[in-house]
Amino acid sequence: MTGTLNLKLDINGESRDVAVEPRVTLLDALREHLGLTGTKKGCDQGQCGACTVHIDGQRVLACLTLAAQAEGRAITTIEGLADPNGALHPVQSAFLEHDAFQCGYCTPGQIMSAVACIREGHTKSDNEIREYMSGNLCRCGAYSHIVAAVREAAEATS
Ligand code: FES
Ligand code: FES
Repeated sequence: MTGTLNLKLDINGESRDVAVEPRVTLLDALREHLGLTGTKKGCDQGQCGACTVHIDGQRVLACLTLAAQAEGRAITTIEGLADPNGALHPVQSAFLEHDAFQCGYCTPGQIMSAVACIREGHTKSDNEIREYMSGNLCRCGAYSHIVAAVREAAEATS
């Protein structure tokens, strides 16, 4: 079935109108229809974590979520993480401080996962951080720096 849905999505505190076919994922709606390209497309099948965003504060894979499923819920993307006055989120600052990236392609997804991981309280040890960040792959192998950044951000925000 085709046809177009006129959706109203709450993204980073703003109401955005988007007209998409029912099969369009949240990832494609963000990137292709709304110009929010900070959320990355890696595998497009739920295996890499590059597309991680938050819905109602929970991390979700935008490539496995239909845009229509997100209507009426609060969506946060990497573009909405910094303070409106420009101050970086503590996790963003920690990633910079610890050089927790190389090419940067996985980084928005890593940061969105890390924010949720800290909020979930899964940062009691490096092993726990590794386990709860394991859905986010990094082809550059920046894992040890990512764990250090998450640990520091968790300590800073506790
Ligand atoms: S692009 Fe969604 S998990 Fe890889
Ligand atoms: S920094 Fe390149 S994929 Fe993670």
